[in-house]
Amino acid sequence: MRTLEQTFNGKATSPPPIWLMRQAGRYLPEYRAVREQAGSFMKLCGNPQLASEVTLQPVKRFGLDAAIIFSDILLIPHALGRRLDFAEGEGPRLDPLPEDSGAWNLVYDEAGTAPTCAAIKTVRAALGNKTSLIGFCGAPWTVACYMIDGKSGKNGGFARALQWAQEKPDLLTALSDQLCKASAQYLIAQISAGAGVLQIFDSWAGLLAHDEALFTRFVTGPAAKITAEIKRHYPEIPVIGFPRGARGLYGRYAAASGADAIGIDSDVSLAAARKLQQDRPVQGNLRPEILLEGGGKLVREVASIMEALAGGPFIFNLGHGILPATPPDHVAQLVDLVRNWKA
Ligand code: CP3
Repeated sequence: MRTLEQTFNGKATSPPPIWLMRQAGRYLPEYRAVREQAGSFMKLCGNPQLASEVTLQPVKRFGLDAAIIFSDILLIPHALGRRLDFAEGEGPRLDPLPEDSGAWNLVYDEAGTAPTCAAIKTVRAALGNKTSLIGFCGAPWTVACYMIDGKSGKNGGFARALQWAQEKPDLLTALSDQLCKASAQYLIAQISAGAGVLQIFDSWAGLLAHDEALFTRFVTGPAAKITAEIKRHYPEIPVIGFPRGARGLYGRYAAASGADAIGIDSDVSLAAARKLQQDRPVQGNLRPEILLEGGGKLVREVASIMEALAGGPFIFNLGHGILPATPPDHVAQLVDLVRNWKA
């Protein structure tokens, strides 16, 4: 059995499985070459042949335990008819959603996500039977942030999305409900194509972590809806929930989101992580800056994470995506450290 899937049965595997968020990306020269060949990020996502190629690159180079399908969380708003582009060096831009929900007309066109599902089929066939394939979507709150504000600002920003949460919660609920439906449909299609594990990225969950009621309504609740819908079709497929920045509300999320494992960011203490791990597997949480830096600090940090968490069901990962300036050699060293770690 694949080690990632084994972990969801509550077993500690030695060594634990390792994969890294944003493991396919600009820090790899072979990614930059294919990205150039594709012409743009969106064209790369829309080309199953090239998308499967970049998905496999980090698995081939580092021998990671899982591939994550190459795509983006913003393909869902795009498939719902919202204009999306990735301005070079600026990140994503969408047309901000109007407050009049009657003008939204969000209809999910599966043609927008079909290339991702086609790439999943190709990747699954190319991976050996020891390597897991992860499908994913953005959580409704995080996707709504980009749809409402059109882009991220400093520390996320997303002032307009926050204003909807606080002052127009029914409007945000209407959007969140539509995103729950489209996301569940998308994840189910990814499983049908060959994804064996799913991750729901709530990268901006922390923006609501100061208010438990808002967090429950817009973070935990939608995650529970999506996981319930998936389990109705595919009860055996494990789901990793990643409410980045949830701070003191991680426990609530773990208990109520329906997620089988919890992704933890780098601000979660190892003591808190161990507590979460008593109920279900955890995934994380090396600081991406430490991987970028490398050296003795990397060795020490990996050792403390392994000491705290490798005795229980655990998936080694970063606390957020790999930074583009990370030397690929540091990633190879990290995989080595995890694989050869001795208690
Ligand atoms: O992890 C993987 O290797 C799979 C692919 C993946 C991408 N984006 C590819 C990508 C995944 C899982 C994502 C998720 C994603 N996308 C999130 C959630 C995780 C997180 O990082 O918080 C979010 C918030 C997005 C939205 C998004 N896409 C942003 C903010 C950006 C620009 C930032 C940047 O790094 O340029 C993207 C573009 C993007 N998505 C790139 C990649 C490899 C860079 C595009 C390029 O220039 O090649």
